[in-house]
Amino acid sequence: MSTAISPTAYNYKVVRQFAIMTVVWGILGMGLGVFIASQLVWPELNFGLPWTSFGRLRPLHTNLVIFAFGGCALFATSYYVVQRTCQTRLISDSLAAFTFWGWQAVIVGAIITLPLGYTTTKEYAELEWPLAILLAIVWVTYGLVFFGTITKRKTKHIYVGNWFYGAFIVVTAMLHIVNHMSLPVSLFKSYSAYSGATDAMIQWWYGHNAVGFFLTTGFLGMMYYFVPKQAERPIYSYRLSIVHFWALITLYIWAGPHHLHYTALPDWAQSLGMAMSIILLAPSWGGMINGMMTLSGAWHKLRTDPILRFLVVSLAFYGMSTFEGPMMAIKTVNSLSHYTDWTIGHVHAGALGWVAMISIGAIYHMIPKLFGRAQMHSTGLINAHFWLATIGTVLYIASMWVNGITQGLMWRAINDDGTLTYSFVEALQASHPGFIVRALGGAFFASGMLLMAYNVYRTVRASDPVEAEAAAKIAVVGAH
Ligand code: HEM
Ligand code: HEM
Repeated sequence: MSTAISPTAYNYKVVRQFAIMTVVWGILGMGLGVFIASQLVWPELNFGLPWTSFGRLRPLHTNLVIFAFGGCALFATSYYVVQRTCQTRLISDSLAAFTFWGWQAVIVGAIITLPLGYTTTKEYAELEWPLAILLAIVWVTYGLVFFGTITKRKTKHIYVGNWFYGAFIVVTAMLHIVNHMSLPVSLFKSYSAYSGATDAMIQWWYGHNAVGFFLTTGFLGMMYYFVPKQAERPIYSYRLSIVHFWALITLYIWAGPHHLHYTALPDWAQSLGMAMSIILLAPSWGGMINGMMTLSGAWHKLRTDPILRFLVVSLAFYGMSTFEGPMMAIKTVNSLSHYTDWTIGHVHAGALGWVAMISIGAIYHMIPKLFGRAQMHSTGLINAHFWLATIGTVLYIASMWVNGITQGLMWRAINDDGTLTYSFVEALQASHPGFIVRALGGAFFASGMLLMAYNVYRTVRASDPVEAEAAAKIAVVGAH
């Protein structure tokens, strides 16, 4: 291994900023999740005001957890990983700073406009055209910084984690721009360029690939760096990681129609979406197994290392939700699950169990390194956070399974004379206990984030700026 010392240092400033904001937005987004979950238990919490109603706060929750919390985690880790695996500083500090401030501006814009009721009405693409354009500019800049850094890398090879991050960046830009094609009629209102079934298809091509590329491929990039790093083992099979990459990105893009079963979408398109979703199980599990098997010979570390536990349990939930998803994509199963809380349970198995857990693990791994500390302020608090997160996720998804199947069966129950056995309100009443358990599970998960904030605060406060700068030095070429 070469030991050439490079005089330059990594740009850790932008990584630190995004890492801290991941925790801040995580608390706000999940706190809001607990609030809207409580509104479903106690409707009085809508306060009779439009701005605080469930209908307006729900999209704010999804925007905050996906784009603010998840997005900041992806920015922070991708900037960290691309620099360390390419052994070079980001191509431009000012462009990187622009992506940070631009991204925060989009989020603040969402916090202002969504409660006021400004929305395109397209799920996960609600932000009106001025914010959507800002987002597109920030995203293209992100692409320039990321790929520019790859082009000036000191290493010959492009580490597989960067392939996943790269695909996530390119496809997200494509989805966002195509789905947002619209005609503005005023500063805060636009109409989609598409109509009818075409609009629905474009929206769910976007929506499903937002899951596939934003909530999955980007986080797999994270997985391929942080799991081997934390386990101090090389990835189980590098060859499998390449097969995983190509199979995943080839298949995901076709699966969108499973969101539109039994609709006006042509039947062949629905069946194609179903078939592709089932095949998707293979690369998803290939990736999950590749991550898990990286722990071969290091399983004992799980006893003492709660950060590794976060990373490994996230893979278990990834495996679970990517088994459940293909099952739900089967038309007959979907006829029961669609519109019910089963979908909500599936979403949060992925969102809490996979996306949030892997992000939390990665942030705990990075924070001491970014601030020149040997480790986090308290391992005990990380451990407590781990259990709050795990128990919270299990309570959330188990209650939603029970609710979902109950709702599906009650809605389809028919008397001998062809009338419905249950009214909608009866199904809602049956769901009430599940709503309480979900709110409790969410409160567990969100309170774990508060422990994280305290732990991060203590670690950062104890940091020494000189040591932090020394930690950012690009030391040894060839080692990452
Ligand atoms: C404390 C944690 C959380 C709680 C209590 C919570 C609660 C909720 C609630 C009550 C809903 C509305 C469900 C409904 O309409 O019936 C919801 C929707 C949603 N949440 Fe969360 N959430 C949490 C964390 C997250 C995280 C971390 C993510 C993503 C990374 C996420 C992503 C979503 C998505 C995508 C939806 C929309 C689902 C759909 O339309 O099918 N949530 N959440
Ligand atoms: C092989 C992988 C997966 C497949 C085939 C799949 C399939 C599905 C299906 C069939 C639905 C229900 C559609 C409906 O009835 O409306 C769904 C909903 C959803 N899934 Fe997955 N899923 C997968 C993995 C994941 C993962 C890992 C996540 C999160 C990180 C996720 C997030 C979501 C979200 C957010 C929705 C709700 C969309 C909405 O209606 O708003 N999925 N998925």
